[in-house]
Amino acid sequence: MKDKPLRRSGIKVMAGLIALLGSLAYIMILAVFNGSLGFISAMGVTVLGAVGVAKALGENIAMSYGLIIGLAVGCGVLRGLLRYFEQYSNHFIAFKLLATLRDKIFKALRRLCPAKLESKKKGSIIAMITSDIETLEVFYAHTVSPICIAVLVSLAAAVFVGIVASPYLALVAVVGYLTIGIALPLISSKLLKRGGVEYRRSFSLFNAYFMDSIKGIKDIIYHNAGEERKKQVDRKSDELLDLAYGMKKNIVNASAVTELAVSLFIIISLFVGVVLYTQDMISIGAMIVAVVAIFGSFGPVIAISALPGNLTQTFASGDRVLDLIEEQPAVLPIENAKDMHFSSLEIKDLTFGYDKNIAVLKDIDMCARKGEIVGIVGESGCGKSTLLKLLLRFWQKDGGSIEYGGEDIEHINTRSLLKNVTMVSQSTYLFDDTVEENLRLAKPDATIEEMQDACKKASVHDLIMSLPNGYHSKVGLSGDNLSAGEKQRIGLARAFLSGSKLILLDEPTSNVDSINEGIILRSLAEHRKDNCIILVSHRLSTMAIADRVYTIKDGRIRESKN
Ligand SMILES: Nc1ncnc2c1ncn2[C@@H]1O[C@H](COP(=O)(O)OP(=O)(O)OP(=O)(O)O)[C@@H](O)[C@H]1O
Ligand SMILES: [Mg+2]
Repeated sequence: MKDKPLRRSGIKVMAGLIALLGSLAYIMILAVFNGSLGFISAMGVTVLGAVGVAKALGENIAMSYGLIIGLAVGCGVLRGLLRYFEQYSNHFIAFKLLATLRDKIFKALRRLCPAKLESKKKGSIIAMITSDIETLEVFYAHTVSPICIAVLVSLAAAVFVGIVASPYLALVAVVGYLTIGIALPLISSKLLKRGGVEYRRSFSLFNAYFMDSIKGIKDIIYHNAGEERKKQVDRKSDELLDLAYGMKKNIVNASAVTELAVSLFIIISLFVGVVLYTQDMISIGAMIVAVVAIFGSFGPVIAISALPGNLTQTFASGDRVLDLIEEQPAVLPIENAKDMHFSSLEIKDLTFGYDKNIAVLKDIDMCARKGEIVGIVGESGCGKSTLLKLLLRFWQKDGGSIEYGGEDIEHINTRSLLKNVTMVSQSTYLFDDTVEENLRLAKPDATIEEMQDACKKASVHDLIMSLPNGYHSKVGLSGDNLSAGEKQRIGLARAFLSGSKLILLDEPTSNVDSINEGIILRSLAEHRKDNCIILVSHRLSTMAIADRVYTIKDGRIRESKN
C-alpha cells in the first residue's frame, strides 16, 4: 500500500460512513433517544438527592421525602432499562452494518478482480476485511450516538440549570461542555491523528509481510533464511508495539487533561454558585441542585473526549474501506451487449502496457481458428501470459482490436466470453476440497463420467484413482497433497471439462514428464477437432503439435512456422 495520508477529512469519512447506515438510521435515532433519556435519568438520581438536601436546608419544595426517594429510585431503574435499549440498538446497528460492509467489500473485490489481486498486497486486503471492519464497529456502536447524546443532554442540563438556578451558572456549564466536548477533543485529535494513521498503516503492512512470510515459508526454509526473516518479523512487530505504546500514551495524557478540565469546571461552577448565593441572586437550595446537576452532566461530554483515540483509527479504517468501495475497476464487466459462439479469433495492432507509458505488447497481429493449435513462444517476461489475459479481457487493451467472429471483445458480454474462452494458468490453484469439487469449478453439473473423461485426457485419471478415496480424495490446503505437475494436470482437466471452445494453455506441460506430456499432447491434438487451443510453451517438443507458432520479442510478434 502506498504511503499516503488520509484522502478524506474526518468529517467526510464520518459522512461517508453515516451514509452507509441507510434504513438503519431510525434505529440509530432510537438509540440516541434512549441514551439521552438514560443519562438524564442518571442525573435525576443525584439531582433528586440534592433536592432532598435542599428541602432539609429549609427550601420550599412541594415534594415529600418519600416522593423524592421514590422518584430517585424510579430514575435509577429507568436508567438501567434505557441503557439496555440504547446498547441493544447500537450493537444491532453495528453488527448489521458490519455484515453489510463485509458484503460491500467482497462485492467491491469481485468487481475489481482479477486486476486488483494482481497488484494489491493480499495482507492489506485481509487487514481490511478483519481489523478495519472491527474498528468501524466502534464507530457505529460507540461514536455516532455518544456525540448526539452529549449534545442533547448538555442542552437539557444547561436549560435546567438556567431555569432552577441562574443563567450565569448555565453559562459556566455551557463553556464547560464546549471546552471538554469540542475544544479538547479537537486539539487532542490533531495530536493523535498522525499516530492513529501511522499505526493502522504499519499494522496493515505488518499483516501483509506476515502473510507473505507464511506463503513463502517453503522458500524461506530452502534458503535457510528463517532466522533472518524471524528477525525482520520481530523488528516490525517491535516497531508496531512502539507505535501502539506512543499512541496509548497520548490517549492517556489526553484523558488526564479532560479529567482535570472537568474538575476545574465543577470548582468554577461551585465558586460562581457561592458568589451568586452570597449576592442573594439564588437560594442555597437552588445552588446545590444546580451545582450537582452540572457535576452530573459531564458524563456524555467526557465520553466524547474519550473518542479521539479511537476516532483517528476509525477515520483511517473508514477512509481505506470507503476507498475500496468507491474504487473503479481496471476493467468493467460488459453486460447487455452481444453473446458469442467461438469460431475464430483475429487480433490486429494490439497494444498494451500495465504502466500506460511502457508498452509490454506492441502492434500484435495474430489469428486462431476452430480446429487449430496455435503456439506462442518467447523469452520469459516478453508478455505471453499478458497476451492470454487480454484475450479473457482481464485487462483493458490500450489499442488495436481483439475480435471473436468479427466482433470486438469490448462488445461481447463478459459472461459469454468466459463461457467460450478458458485458461489454464501457469500455476493452478486448487481449493482445500476433494478432487471432484475442484473439477466441478469448471462445470458445476458435470457427471462423474464427464470428469473421468476430462481427467483421462489430461493424463491424471490414473493418479486420482490411486489416491485413497479416488475422486473424493482431499487435495489439501492449496493442493499441497499433490505435486506441481499433478496440479497442472488437474487444471488441464478443468479446461477440458469446461466445454469452452477456445482453450488458452499457459505452459501446460512445464512440470510434466515426457511420458505424460505425450499423453496430454495427444489429447490436445484430438481435442482440437471442434476446439481451438492457444498454447504457450518454452518446449520445442510441445510446439511440434502447433499448426502455427508465433514468437514474441521486444513486445512485437512474428509468425515463425506454418
Ligand atoms: N500485474 C502486473 N502489473 C505490472 N506488470 C506486470 C504484471 N504482470 C506482468 N507484468 C510485467 O509484464 C511483463 C510481461 O509479463 P508476462 O507475465 O506476460 O510474461 P511471460 O512472457 O508470460 O513470462 P514467463 O515466460 O516468465 O511466464 C513482465 O515484464 C512483467 O514483469
Ligand atoms: Mg507467463
